[in-house]
Amino acid sequence: MPKEHLLALDQGTSSSRAIVFHRSGRIVASAQREFTQHFPQPGWVEHDAEEIWDTQLVVAREALAASGLSAADIAAIGITNQRETTVLWGRQSGKPVHRAIVWQDRRTEPVCARLRAQEGALDLVRADTGLLIDPYFSGTKLRWLLDAVPGAHQEAAGGYLAFGTIDSWLLWKLTGGRVHATDVSNASRTMLFDVRHNVWDHELLKLLHIPESVLPKVFPSAHVYGETDPALFGAPIPIAGVAGDQQSALFGQACFTPGLAKNTYGTGCFLLMHAGERFRPSAHGLVTTSAAQTSATPEFALEGSVFVAGAVVQWLRDGLKAISSSAEVQALAASVPDSGGVMVVPAFTGLGAPYWNADARGTITGLTRGSTVAHIARAAVESIAYQSAALLDAMQADAKAMGAPPLTELRVDGGASVNDDLMQFQADLLGVPVVRPQVVETTALGAAYLAGLATGVYAGRDELAALWQAERRFEPAMTRDEAAERMARWAHAVRQATAA
Ligand code: G3P
Repeated sequence: MPKEHLLALDQGTSSSRAIVFHRSGRIVASAQREFTQHFPQPGWVEHDAEEIWDTQLVVAREALAASGLSAADIAAIGITNQRETTVLWGRQSGKPVHRAIVWQDRRTEPVCARLRAQEGALDLVRADTGLLIDPYFSGTKLRWLLDAVPGAHQEAAGGYLAFGTIDSWLLWKLTGGRVHATDVSNASRTMLFDVRHNVWDHELLKLLHIPESVLPKVFPSAHVYGETDPALFGAPIPIAGVAGDQQSALFGQACFTPGLAKNTYGTGCFLLMHAGERFRPSAHGLVTTSAAQTSATPEFALEGSVFVAGAVVQWLRDGLKAISSSAEVQALAASVPDSGGVMVVPAFTGLGAPYWNADARGTITGLTRGSTVAHIARAAVESIAYQSAALLDAMQADAKAMGAPPLTELRVDGGASVNDDLMQFQADLLGVPVVRPQVVETTALGAAYLAGLATGVYAGRDELAALWQAERRFEPAMTRDEAAERMARWAHAVRQATAA
């Protein structure tokens, strides 16, 4: 009998998770473990790669046990991961030479500033990778490791060290050190990868002085990468899908054609729109990145991120003490009919796309004598929708220039997507329906789908598109004039936040 179950490993920034899916997309069992965040200096964020592996293995075993299935019942494993986080380890020892440098880490800003000042560097990065020069991406983190760890550059040049994002590290560990590889969607976040041709970029490697011998092999996201070490789960399981978490969610939301987009509401928001097979850098402050790919043909997505989304609720709880648990926010915000003209711009760490202003700071505007903490809470929650709407405006402008059809709906997932009032407000601002799917674990689902495609569990993308089911659709109810007026007020508040 053909195997009907897939195991997704979802290695995120704050926790390692594993989910066993039935081929229908139904969740059979899951497990999750948080792990330690290290902040050695302001602006630095590190993870212990060994702890990531340990927690990931534990949850994979727990989910499998809870499903009542054995390794032999699993058709394939799909890996999805926090992107850009950089690991460097010894090929002989299998041990990391330093803690992993996390995507949020800003330590390489001086390296980036020097690169930006170098003639032609910005244009080269934009034209070959679709990215900006920013510490967010892995390239300068790897350069930092090669400089900071004594002897690392020489060892890397001699072929003794392996670099990888978290997917590569997990692949290496799962296969007992036999596979050193990554997929195109993760490679596209390194700032070292030519996304137009799906190869490592020699000019960029030269620019950053990175020896090629340290790099993983790159394959499509749906591909049989290898088998797990039989000792891990009692029997070998093929590893057949790999994708960065945001591209995996785009795939799990069945956004396979140009113009289909998803927004994930987590600590921040990640908005991605499928942009077809033709590469075009963004002209509106977004990045163009590789989408999850099921063949050698490149596919692209436009991406923008909001730095502070769900985190604004944590600020209401821990900073302002307006609520004692995050769950209370919806009721407090709903206790007033609107924000009473109050606007909160949560630019706590500057503003990301489409503003890119590192110096912007959080701002509250429109306060009157009648303003209450409920108005502020409502405005704080609404800021999540305002920021996403501004991002989507930029994305629509890019998509139009790329010849993609206009957006007809926005698919949503992530923690705050369960907030009905927020999703309604999002639809109102956008003027397009917001659609929440039945399975909101779209990140893990995307990885399971990719693994299932590579191993014949699914015949093709049409079958996956048919599995995607809406749970609830939020139709825009606000007039376009009112939405425009509100967006203008938001733009005014953003100007205040960036004026300091
Ligand atoms: O680019 C960073 C992103 O992949 C992190 O996602 O869900 O682990 O916060 P998450």
